Amino acid sequence: NRPLAIAVAGLGTVGAGVVNVLRANADIIAARAGRPITVTAVSARDRSRDRGVPVAGLRWYEDAVALAADPQVEVVVECIGGSDGKAKALVEAAIAAGKHVVTANKALLAVHGAALAQQAEAKGVALAFEASVAGGIPAIKAVREGLAANRIQRIAGILNGTCNYILTTMRNERREFAEVLSEAQKLGYAEADPSFDIDGIDAAHKLAILAALAFGRPVDFGAVHVEGIREVSALDISLAEELGYRIKLLGIAKREEGGISTRVHPCMVPVSAPIARVDGVFNAVVAEGDFVGRVMMEGRGAGAGPTASAVVADLIDIARARFTPVWGAATSALKPEPSLPMDRH
Ligand code: NDP
Ligand code: HSE
Repeated sequence: NRPLAIAVAGLGTVGAGVVNVLRANADIIAARAGRPITVTAVSARDRSRDRGVPVAGLRWYEDAVALAADPQVEVVVECIGGSDGKAKALVEAAIAAGKHVVTANKALLAVHGAALAQQAEAKGVALAFEASVAGGIPAIKAVREGLAANRIQRIAGILNGTCNYILTTMRNERREFAEVLSEAQKLGYAEADPSFDIDGIDAAHKLAILAALAFGRPVDFGAVHVEGIREVSALDISLAEELGYRIKLLGIAKREEGGISTRVHPCMVPVSAPIARVDGVFNAVVAEGDFVGRVMMEGRGAGAGPTASAVVADLIDIARARFTPVWGAATSALKPEPSLPMDRH
């Protein structure tokens, strides 16, 4: 069968991870996709940098947006990052050129997801984003497709691997926040600007995406109440522990009277609760539906392998021509559910 020709834009933690997974598991990926998936072109800023994956022989683009005009490329995998700038220009240009897009970029989706979805649906191309929420946990598929029969009451979770890694290490090693952050950066967990992680913004991006899927409404990042973990000290963590609690940064979206509340902030969670034991870079997503009851998924929420695993799952769907409307029910005729005003969160 004819290979699916893809381009990878951005060859950092995630982009290089995608190239690696496609090579290492080429046989099972081809079997599941019905055909090989082949990287034909790439883009990053610094051509001289060793990325730990072979890129010789691939077409190299200095300007990522030019990938959209490459006639051989069928799918653009956007792993650059940022809600605007190159990432947005590339995604828009790729959709306009009739190419499918896979992205790990939650900032882009949280801010421009509704408009990009409209563009993709008008062009009949996929805009796939499994990797954008909770790394390797298949949370998008689970909420959009697996729980589609349910009215969701609440969706919540640990949505930032960097913060969970920092809080866990502060607890286990009684260290302060600043020194642990640099470790999370070295491990490839943190955003290019780590204040997005520690100030709760990255978790809010992901919560806005999950809430759109769960409650059938456009993404509304501006409605999320956001607090991060900067003010949490090692002393706070050990005092909470003495009282039988763990401190976790949670994102919570909930159906309330009159609308949906969405908030991200540090929470005291009883040690006996399953989510309290989700540690390190692991994330958890908990959904409550009227018929399914409570569902909890746990897995690595950041890093090259887990994130690339989710990107490649989207590529396999596209190779099989198995893709759904971007927001599932949110783009259907359902009446969108409003966000609650901030003072009611
Ligand atoms: P990195 O900073 O490791 O990599 C970014 C890549 O983009 C680099 O290769 C960089 O090039 C390239 N790049 C930056 N600007 C441009 C530009 N103007 N033109 C072309 N290439 C450019 O980021 P990550 O891989 O960590 O993250 C990528 C995306 O994936 C982000 O949206 C992030 O939020 C998301 N994500 C990250 C996860 C993680 O665990 N790291 C998990 C889930 C999602 P160069 O190498 O030459 O500098
Ligand atoms: N910086 C993000 C995190 C990457 O730590 O969770 C995964 O989205």
